[in-house]
Amino acid sequence: MDISKCNNIDDIRRLAKKRLPKPIFDYIDGGSDDEETLRNNTEAFNNFDLIPNVLRDVSKLDTKVSVLGATIDFPFFCSPTALQKLFHHSGEMAVGKAAEKERTMFGVSSLSTTSVEDISKIIKSPKLFQFYYHKDKALNKEMLERAKAANFDALALTVDTAVGGNRERDLKSGFTIPPRLTLGSFISFLFHIGWTSNFIFRKFDLPHLSKFHKHGSSIEVNVGQYFTEMIDQSMSWKDAENLRSEWNGPFCLKGIMSVDDAKKAVDIGATAIMISNHGGRQLDGSISPIEQLSSIVDSVGGKIEIILDGGIRRGSHVLKALTLGATACSGGRLYLYALGAAGQRGVEKALFNIRQEIERDMRLMGVTKISELNSSMINKKYNNFKCLVR
Ligand code: LAC
Repeated sequence: MDISKCNNIDDIRRLAKKRLPKPIFDYIDGGSDDEETLRNNTEAFNNFDLIPNVLRDVSKLDTKVSVLGATIDFPFFCSPTALQKLFHHSGEMAVGKAAEKERTMFGVSSLSTTSVEDISKIIKSPKLFQFYYHKDKALNKEMLERAKAANFDALALTVDTAVGGNRERDLKSGFTIPPRLTLGSFISFLFHIGWTSNFIFRKFDLPHLSKFHKHGSSIEVNVGQYFTEMIDQSMSWKDAENLRSEWNGPFCLKGIMSVDDAKKAVDIGATAIMISNHGGRQLDGSISPIEQLSSIVDSVGGKIEIILDGGIRRGSHVLKALTLGATACSGGRLYLYALGAAGQRGVEKALFNIRQEIERDMRLMGVTKISELNSSMINKKYNNFKCLVR
């Protein structure tokens, strides 16, 4: 199948599965423990039903929203994700160019495989830098300065990685950064010779970390070990507040799930929170972002921007989050499958699909602007009967 024939994210995921060696696909696709949270992040959208209005003149549409100081063309952007050159040799540059073409924001990870300097030379649309708070304070300082000097628009501090999640697919495949050839994965790498030769003949590097890591240009650990060994477990609200003031620009906490923490994010002056459980890759058994959204909106709505991150596969999922009070939505796997399936063209297609779905569904909902979506347009189902959310 060709990417142009993919009608939805499931089609794109299937294509990625064919194109990538199994350990690489499993690293994107997998979650922690029994992957309950991973599955539930998407399935929980089915607990909510949209209620459309009709006869509203939906001939003209405005899908723009403002988030983290940027105006984006439609209410979905690319969450920061790590190691993108493993999924396609064009890596972050492909995602950035696709996001720029579709006029949305894209996030760059501390664990990116392209440097903030190289990205900002080429990509002029809004960019978010994702920050891991390391034990090594010199590393933190340098990374922050580089993101600032490269004119990144916003900073997102990830707060849900005090230790690595138990990712059993990675343990089974022996996935490390960079990937190691193991006896078990040998056949899969052999059958994906295009991917494998690209990997062998191109430089793989983590440009924000390599200077500070004992192994030099490669980390040679799995992601769980990286979190456990390099991330500062003593990070506190005070540290987050200090980072916000050092950054001195739009600032987001990524990985907020509780109402209490959402209130604390307001107290430290954050611009936004990303309600996220790290795509079900950290604490399995955690509630899904969409199920937690209403309580957080009730408590801090209007005081902070609320980004719903997790499980989004359809435009209708985005509309459900927005009717419940989210400012915007973001997602990772959705575009990583596309990157693995077809590079920049794939990411463009995934973003184009979701954008078209948002536009079609807005018209079918009877709204012409994002601000018209509200909680009267959604019901939450409880067991077999329904009640209004608020
Ligand atoms: C992950 C990190 C690196 O693998 O965000 O989930």
